[in-house]
Amino acid sequence: MPAASAPGKIILLGEHAVVFGKPAIALGIDMRLTCAVEKGTENLVNGQPLSERYHSYIHAAIRDHWSGGPLNITIDSKIPSGSGLGSSAALTVAFLGAVAEMRGGIAEEEVARAAFDVESTVQGRASPIDTSVSCHGQGVFIDSARREGLLWHIRRDSRQWYVHHCPVPDLTFVIGFTGMRAPTGPLVAKVKRYFDRTRFARDVVDEIGAVTMEGVKRLRDRDVVALGGLMSRDHNLLAILGVSSPELQRLVDAAMPFSYGAKLTGAGGGGSMIALTDRPEKVAGAIARRGGVPYVVRAGVDGVRAEPMSE
Ligand code: PMV
Repeated sequence: MPAASAPGKIILLGEHAVVFGKPAIALGIDMRLTCAVEKGTENLVNGQPLSERYHSYIHAAIRDHWSGGPLNITIDSKIPSGSGLGSSAALTVAFLGAVAEMRGGIAEEEVARAAFDVESTVQGRASPIDTSVSCHGQGVFIDSARREGLLWHIRRDSRQWYVHHCPVPDLTFVIGFTGMRAPTGPLVAKVKRYFDRTRFARDVVDEIGAVTMEGVKRLRDRDVVALGGLMSRDHNLLAILGVSSPELQRLVDAAMPFSYGAKLTGAGGGGSMIALTDRPEKVAGAIARRGGVPYVVRAGVDGVRAEPMSE
């Protein structure tokens, strides 16, 4: 049975500011989702009939990117859904990877473009950061200008993004999931209102951009002390933009005594935070004691890849 897997992600620096053309860095993590496909007599997802409501990403991917008849689809995910760790992007990418395998092989850029198209259709205003990092793995650095290491250039409406490869040293992060699901759209809209109304918010967005550019260098040098400091600074800037929450702040504060830095990751409001540390057990314990769900993850993993045939 053709199958493909794709990783979840964390946003290391630059979320929200990326919506206004600033750079952002996302890293693939060692939590994967695997999707297997075979021809069938009707579209089935884990034995259930395909539903637009419950399987919106697969539904859109089949409608817009598949014309080969009904599929029997099996999904196995190690990425907690609704946690801001990129489970919907990984699902879309792994599914498109599996159908590409069925047609003869995965072309990373083709899958990345189709996956972004699917996410945009389902979610509305998205940037290609989640789908790009799930395809490419390692790290991706997204910017409104072309730089070294370009992977692909994506346009949508009047917006455009240059997606670059970002080398990632072996780093350990602890994720703390607040247990609260917060939809991305309203948070992006809230920041946009603030941005449109005040000079101050525009300055904060500019500063997040500068912090991210500095982060690219620190990541390359594996300077964890400086990188952690930048993460914490980014968190404070995001909090000023109004996308942190008491739950996220509690987990960030719990992690800090054992970490180089900590911040919310993704849209915020709920979802997850990340801490960069070389004492993952300590951080995981502190997060659990403050009511979060900890996951110790490694960054710098493969992107979409074919998986061995299973029976
Ligand atoms: O919640 P996530 O992980 O999909 O991250 C959203 C990141 C934003 O910058 C807030 C929005 C975007 O599309 O880039």
